[in-house]
Amino acid sequence: MTWRTKPLSLILETAEKRALKRQLGLWSLTTLGIGAVIGTGIFVLTAVAANKAGPGMMWSFVIAAVVCLLTALIYAEIASMVPVSGSAYTYSYAVLGELVAWMVGWALILEYAVAAGAVAVGWSGYINGFLQSVGYGLPPALTAGPADTVTLADGTKVAGAFNLLAFLVAAFVTWLLVIGTSRSAKFTAVLVVVKIVALSVFIAIALPAVSHVNFEPMLPNGWGTPLSGVGVLGAAASIFFAYVGFDAVSTAAEETENPQRNVPLGLIGSLVVCTIFYLLVAYAATGAVGAQPGGPLSESKEPLAFVLRHLGWPQVGNWVAAAAIIALPSVVLMMMFGQTRILFTMARDGLMPAAFARIHPRFHTPHVVTMATGLLVALFAAMFPVGALADISNSGTLFAFFVVALGVMVLRRTQPDHPRTFRTPFIWVVGPLAMAGCALLFVSLGGYTIKLFFAWAVIGLAVYALYGRHRSHLANGTTHGD
Ligand code: ALA
Repeated sequence: MTWRTKPLSLILETAEKRALKRQLGLWSLTTLGIGAVIGTGIFVLTAVAANKAGPGMMWSFVIAAVVCLLTALIYAEIASMVPVSGSAYTYSYAVLGELVAWMVGWALILEYAVAAGAVAVGWSGYINGFLQSVGYGLPPALTAGPADTVTLADGTKVAGAFNLLAFLVAAFVTWLLVIGTSRSAKFTAVLVVVKIVALSVFIAIALPAVSHVNFEPMLPNGWGTPLSGVGVLGAAASIFFAYVGFDAVSTAAEETENPQRNVPLGLIGSLVVCTIFYLLVAYAATGAVGAQPGGPLSESKEPLAFVLRHLGWPQVGNWVAAAAIIALPSVVLMMMFGQTRILFTMARDGLMPAAFARIHPRFHTPHVVTMATGLLVALFAAMFPVGALADISNSGTLFAFFVVALGVMVLRRTQPDHPRTFRTPFIWVVGPLAMAGCALLFVSLGGYTIKLFFAWAVIGLAVYALYGRHRSHLANGTTHGD
């Protein structure tokens, strides 16, 4: 029963009936992808990667990029076949059945909502640092969640209570999303330019300062072992977060003009652009100041600004910090955008409450699900530290990527003649490699994160058994009538 699949033709037909307005072109879509990708990962977690891997973090960036590029090739094929909202969830429903689709949708809550929370917390670190420097700092307890600590100027550590600014930025982004995708996408485009300029300036200054002595020793923590969460692989599993978000392009497929062409191009294009910037930034940062675990780069809360200040460009360092403050909310926006569209689609299938599929009469946005998501994200952001949220988010993302790679291979066998405007090249090599890469990064996350992932999965199974299984439109034969 729970292996029932939703035929592709039915998915496309249902989407036609409740169509969101098609208003995004290739340029907006690629911008959307870059907007969702460049964020807390490169601006904040570079320090975490240095701490886990030392200069070998450059390999971590390469490994995570390879896994994401393989996955993007796969997403491009499936998104060209099923250009509707819902991303990995919808694809799994078409191929692997309702139970797997539900589990993927459930894992995507980790990917998107928890990631949005992580980025909000990363942003709050920068803004709190800025407010502190101009004498308007908040009380320390309001700068971090209860699961986090705050280091005071004299070096003492105190417990956080509620991360107020992370909470507020999530609330602000929710409002932006409720009033309309198009306006939000334009807003994102401006911020993408800010991020690209900041990273370009960073590379231009740090690259000429690269010295080979800073790469020694290259692998102070080795390559890493499963569940240890350190070494090059441990850092790759964390820095994977920096690349996540390109699949947000596929969640916007239903709002895209000519999706069969634009979605594959937007997916791969945005990821390639980000990968080039990341590899240059990681190489330049490591080579310019060194990246040994416990060293100053690895301890910094604003690693890119730190590098520039260290190289004698303090004012430019401040500008890069300002760029992060201005631009990171756009990443929160894209992550929340993806989350709302996935929950919207699950609601349309009857697996989530029907109110989540309601569209606002004036703004034409799914306002109910947007507000529910916003509340969840704001609470995550207020309570937890950035590193933990990023790792938890990665566990959900890796699971979803794994299932999608499997699904695309199954579809090649079961529906060889279904039109595909993009075919993943060498699918029988790329597919298994993508799955192996996702599995490798998953086991390289810390043991604690993996335990949390499985606990979340068990809760998901229980919710499905008690709710979704009976309410599914496919189960009730109401899919045609919705
Ligand atoms: N890739 C996004 C970031 O680094 C989620 O913030």
